[in-house]
Amino acid sequence: MTARLDHVSKDFRLGDETITAVDDISMHVRAGEFACLYGASGSGKTTLLHILAGIEQADSGTVEVAGVSLSGESERTRADVRLRHVGVIFQSNNLLPEFSARENVALPLMVRGRGRDESMTEASAALEAVGLTGLDDRFPAHMSGGQRQRVGIARALAGKQQVLIADEPTGALDSDTSKHLFTLMRDLSDAHGVTIILATHDPLARDFADVVHHIVDGRLSP
Ligand SMILES: Nc1ncnc2c1ncn2[C@@H]1O[C@H](COP(=O)(O)OP(=O)(O)OP(=O)(O)O)[C@@H](O)[C@H]1O
Ligand SMILES: [Mg+2]
Repeated sequence: MTARLDHVSKDFRLGDETITAVDDISMHVRAGEFACLYGASGSGKTTLLHILAGIEQADSGTVEVAGVSLSGESERTRADVRLRHVGVIFQSNNLLPEFSARENVALPLMVRGRGRDESMTEASAALEAVGLTGLDDRFPAHMSGGQRQRVGIARALAGKQQVLIADEPTGALDSDTSKHLFTLMRDLSDAHGVTIILATHDPLARDFADVVHHIVDGRLSP
C-alpha cells in the first residue's frame, strides 16, 4: 500500500511566533518500499509522520495513505484508517503502565477483533522478534528505556499492518539492537510487502532503506 504527500505544509503558532515545521513537502512512498526520513532534531520528522498517520492535520496539501485520502477527513475517519492499515511506533512509546509487556502488545489486536488467546500468542512471538524473550509478564515500570521502546516496536509489528510508521525507534537502543531492528524492517518490506516510513537521525538506517529522503528545516533537500 502506498503513502503520498503532495505539497504538505504545517505551521505551529507559539504566541506571536509562527514555526513552519513542514514546508511544502511532496513525498511518494511505493507499496512495499522502505523509506527513510533522515534529518536533524527539529527538522520536522515527527510532524510529518503525525500527518501521515492522521494524528495531526496539515494546513495545506493532500495526504493519502493505503489508497484513502486523509485530507479534510474527520478525526474518526483518520483513526479508522490508522486502526485498519497503519502500525505506528511513536517516539515516546505510550505503553499502558498497568499492563504487562505482552498485554500491551496484545491489546490492539483484541481491539481489532482478534481473540484473547490468539492475540497473546502473537504478542509473545512479536516480543521474541524484538529480543524480549522471557519479559512477557514484565510491567513497563520495571523495564529499561530501550526495552520499553522494543515493546512499542513489538506492538506495531504484531498487528501485521500493511503500512508501518516509525519515529526514531532506535533512539534508546545500542547499535547491535538497532541493526537487528533495521534488519527486521528490511525483511518486513522484502518478504511481506510492508510499506515502511522510518524517521531517524541514525546514519546506520540509510544502509537498510530503499530510499532516503533528507529533511532540513521542514523541507526535503535533494
Ligand atoms: N506542538 C508544537 N508547538 C509548537 N512548535 C512545535 C510543536 N511540535 C513541533 N514544533 C516545532 O516544529 C519543528 C519540528 O518539530 P518536530 O518535532 O517535527 O521535529 P523532529 O525532526 O521530529 O525533531 P526530533 O529529531 O528532535 O524528534 C521544531 O522547530 C519544533 O520546535
Ligand atoms: Mg521527532
